[in-house]
Amino acid sequence: KISNAMQRGAFIVFEGCDRSGKTTQSRLLVEKLQANGVSTVHLNFPERKSSQIGQVINSYLTNSQDLPDEVIHLMFSANRWEHLNRMRKQLEAGTTLVVDRYSYSGVAYTVAKGLDLNWCYAPERGLLKPDAVFYLKTELDELAKRGSYGTERYEKLEFQRKVSSVFDCLYERESSYWHRLNASDKVEDLHQQIAQISEKLLEQVATQPLDKLT
Ligand code: TYD
Repeated sequence: KISNAMQRGAFIVFEGCDRSGKTTQSRLLVEKLQANGVSTVHLNFPERKSSQIGQVINSYLTNSQDLPDEVIHLMFSANRWEHLNRMRKQLEAGTTLVVDRYSYSGVAYTVAKGLDLNWCYAPERGLLKPDAVFYLKTELDELAKRGSYGTERYEKLEFQRKVSSVFDCLYERESSYWHRLNASDKVEDLHQQIAQISEKLLEQVATQPLDKLT
């Protein structure tokens, strides 16, 4: 007898430095899954628009508001917590979430400022754990060649170098569900790799319970 138990969606995260191609790749994946008939939603953290916390983060990033490093760190985390229930409901209803940045960006960017990694990770505990993280690793010299950075607070090469080394540490620690990819590969090649892994993942996790970050 065929089980008609609800199958959940997959929780897929893209991480990497600014300008690593996360946005392009996450969009391509969403389009591909949707074309295959998979119910898929694209999200981006920070989610700047729909809450007051998001608006504070936006004014911080665009340099119009200054805040202590600890305070903005907790704001970024709170921004994920305020979306937790909706994300869980969507996943449980069978929708796959493709998310551009998550807790690991939260940790990487604040550790790059000099704060303690365990302190930075603590507020992430209890949030949903992704089924897979695609880490688009950039060679920073490549990144410099891609043209000048924008005007947002973190878009400076030296800072990105530090962020990148924290992502590498996180990759070592979380390698069981992280996929490290070379961000300078051709867009289409990267997309093929990501799509292949994701399609397998969708089947694997459909009947598995959601997990939490510990
Ligand atoms: P984002 O809006 O994804 O910008 P972009 O599209 O340029 O990547 O993220 C804005 C910045 O916020 C980015 O430099 C990374 C940083 N960030 C944090 O510092 N902490 C966090 O928790 C998140 C999600 C992002």
